Amino acid sequence: MLSLLNMSGNLPPKVPHAFDAEYLAAVQTVLSRQSPNDLIGAHQFRGKQRDRIAGARFVGRRLPVAPNPDQLIVTNGTQGAITMLMAGLIGRGGTLAIEELSYPTMRQFAEMFGIGLCSIPMDKEGMLPDAYEAACRIKNPAAVYAMPTLQNPTTAIMSVDRRRNIADISRKYGVSIIEDDIYSLLPFDLPPPLSAFAPEISWYILGTAKSMAAALKVAYLVAPSAEAAQSRFWPGVRATYWMCAPINAATVTALIENDAADRIIAAVRRETQARQALVTERLRHREFNSIAEGLHVWLKLPASQPRAEFVARVRSRGVEISASDTYFFGKDEPPNAIRFGTGTAPDREAFERGLDAVIRAYDA
Ligand SMILES: Cc1ncc(COP(=O)(O)O)c(C=O)c1O
Repeated sequence: MLSLLNMSGNLPPKVPHAFDAEYLAAVQTVLSRQSPNDLIGAHQFRGKQRDRIAGARFVGRRLPVAPNPDQLIVTNGTQGAITMLMAGLIGRGGTLAIEELSYPTMRQFAEMFGIGLCSIPMDKEGMLPDAYEAACRIKNPAAVYAMPTLQNPTTAIMSVDRRRNIADISRKYGVSIIEDDIYSLLPFDLPPPLSAFAPEISWYILGTAKSMAAALKVAYLVAPSAEAAQSRFWPGVRATYWMCAPINAATVTALIENDAADRIIAAVRRETQARQALVTERLRHREFNSIAEGLHVWLKLPASQPRAEFVARVRSRGVEISASDTYFFGKDEPPNAIRFGTGTAPDREAFERGLDAVIRAYDA
């Protein structure tokens, strides 16, 4: 039997022509610069100074003011950063506000830490300010998980006004912002992060998994202050699971320092644009949300096509996609929509085949 083509994930496309030589050179640079045992011999809680300086430069691509490297924490990925923040900022019995369609893993983390979720209704820009404010008043969340830039799964991008509004409400009710900006490095001309509007209450995370390679295992976390970074991420927390392996941190540092990160991101962007051009051309006349540099497409289905049946029909054509239910944190019925990724197909030909299966199921 032919194996299923996985288009339910939204990893960046592989770009070995650009990635391989740069990565190899970076690893060689790292290993020639320092004794391996010296590099790996001890835990570095917030990351080595050189890695935090590179991280500050990297997040400076998005934040209007590059942070002090002492505010930076080098983590082994966005999930590692999020779990530390959920445990540290919210804790058992506390509440996290989250958009009603969002990153599904947040549900597992909430269960793991005994944290309640309160879902916030959305429009095309993401969470609605009035609904968010009402939730802050009634449910008293300690933090909000926000993905205001190319939201997963809807692709929503908050306007500057909306960001300012959400930041003001968070400040008014003392709600910490956990901002996941993981999809922000491929598109152009984006608004600044939400955290830029309330830096004193924001924990800003910029991972590399969606712009360079899914398993690089490096994400930079910017704390509201150097003191906050230190008090949440120090040996006294007695946890190291979120820490980046020093070889990974140092390799990404080398990629940032010689601008190889830019070249890899540009290659991922080019391949994504080529695949999204196919989406725009082939899906025209159907209702969908995506942008030219987006790793996922949100396709709305007509009432005559219930999403579960649609997903099954696409699957029968050998392609895996996911229904809106996967991402739904709300109380009522999820919207009749599906998400598929543009990057997981191993090459453009396979992607076209997957896209074709989606279109044929839609038109059936
Ligand atoms: C919104 C979002 N955040 C984080 C991640 C995972 O990031 P990392 O691999 O850096 O933990 C994903 C991956 O699917 C994601 O969609």
